[in-house]
Order: sequence, then structure tokens, then C-alpha cells
Amino acid sequence: MERGSIYYFSGTGNSYYTAKLLGEKLSLSVENIDMKNIPRGSQEYVGIVFPVYAFGPPNIVKKFIEKLEGLEGGYIFVVATYGGQCGPTMNITEKLLKKSRMQLNYAGKVKFPDNYILSFKVPEESKQMDMLEGAHRKINIMAKEILNKAVRIESEKFPFNLIPEKIHFWSASRFRKMGKELKADSKCTLCGLCVRNCPVNNIKMIDKKIVFGVVCELCLRCIHTCPEESINYKNKTQGKRRYLNPKVYMD
Ligand SMILES: Cc1cc2nc3c(=O)[nH]c(=O)nc-3n(C[C@H](O)[C@H](O)[C@H](O)COP(=O)(O)O)c2cc1C
Repeated sequence: MERGSIYYFSGTGNSYYTAKLLGEKLSLSVENIDMKNIPRGSQEYVGIVFPVYAFGPPNIVKKFIEKLEGLEGGYIFVVATYGGQCGPTMNITEKLLKKSRMQLNYAGKVKFPDNYILSFKVPEESKQMDMLEGAHRKINIMAKEILNKAVRIESEKFPFNLIPEKIHFWSASRFRKMGKELKADSKCTLCGLCVRNCPVNNIKMIDKKIVFGVVCELCLRCIHTCPEESINYKNKTQGKRRYLNPKVYMD
């Protein structure tokens, strides 16, 4: 049996940072979720780390879990990063894992700066630093618990524990369509960073234009990484502070 891996999806680095730190503390390999490379075999530890999207896991993470049937995990843990509330995220994830014949042993959540600038604002830098320190402390605690194979599902507080799962599924079903509303404006220098960085290869440069495709996860990495702040969603994000986790995005 292999020692195991942590599979992650991340838009702006919070979940990648979390997966990386846990990987170091637990001596597990850290792998970006890749639908063309679904893990098989048996592993002592299987971890899944992702951001909360509309009170649930990102669509790509749900699809990934649905394909995990051929993987045998000794101890299975999930860590969700979030900016406000997780709602039914852990219940949805646990049910999906069960369908793939995997029993969730541990689920924890870590609060980070919120990157959903379609509705909210990214906190200012001093607040971000406080949040990152808090996140670091929490990840260290979780690493110890996971190492000891603790069995614990972190619950959501009242009244957010009452948010129905169908709110997540309805919202998430709109993400691809919303992704079609992303546009690069005249500030775009055609540097190609968004094309290279999109985690699902949804952005192309065609005839000197940035074109958004139909498989968007709405991770917002393109909006947050564009050095010219040229990419926006409708009229919702113009002039708003951008965010990339500074511990993993050094440039
Ligand atoms: C499409 C979308 C939906 C989101 N929905 C939620 C949510 O329901 N609850 C929440 O607490 N944070 C929500 N967030 C914020 C992210 O979960 C949070 O900032 C996360 O740490 C980002 O992780 P990443 O840097 O790995 O992408 C949302 C972000 C995006 C892009």
C-alpha cells in the first residue's frame, strides 16, 4: 500500500497552499486534480482539498470524486477553504464519497480571504495577513489530527447548517454560463498569462482576442491574475481589489 496523496483544486492559491502545507507535514504527495489522470490502487491516506463554491465543492471536484471508485483509501480526509460560510459542503462531499464507496474519516475547513469579488470585497492587506496566520495555525492543528487518523467531521454553525443542498446544485449549474460573461477589455496586452494559467484550459487567444470557452469552473483565477486588471465579470468586478495567496504566488 502506498503512503498516499492529496488531490487539490485551487483558483487563487488558498487551497493549493493548504494542500502543500499538509503534504509537507504528512509526507504525502500533492497532486493537482486532473480528470485525465484518475488515481487507482490503494493508499493509506487520501486527501482532497478544495475551495467552497456556493456552499459546495467545485464542479470539477464533484466529478473527480464520482470517478474515484477504483481507489482504495485507508484513511480519507477532506479540507475545504472558504471565505464566509461552508453550508452543506461537507454533507455533499461525504455523500459523493459514499457513492464511490469511500468512507469519509475527517473533514475540516480553513477560513481564508474571500476571492468571490463578483459579490464581495477582498479584505485589505493587513486583514489578509491576520487571516493567513490564522489559517496556518489551523492547518497545523489539522495536520496533527490527520496524522493520528482522528475521526471527525467539522460541522457548520447554526443557521448556516440549514442551507439546503439544492441551493448549491442550482448555483453550481450556472457556473459555466457565468464563465461566458468573463471578458478582457481594451487594457488587455495579450500577454497570455490568463491562457497559460487557466486550470481547465478554458481560455484561448484567437486572432489576437481572448476568448472564454464553455468549461469554466468560475475559479476566477483569470480575473485575479491579470496584471492589467483587464478581465472582468459584467460590471461587477471593475476597480475591486484582486487577490492571490501571497504564500504561493511569489511574482
Ligand atoms: C465561484 C465561487 C463561489 C464561492 N462561494 C463561496 C461560498 O459559498 N462560501 C464561502 O465561504 N466562500 C465562497 N467562495 C470563496 C472561496 O471559497 C475562498 O476564497 C477560497 O479560499 C478560495 O480558494 P482558492 O484560492 O484555492 O481558489 C467562493 C469563491 C468562488 C470563486
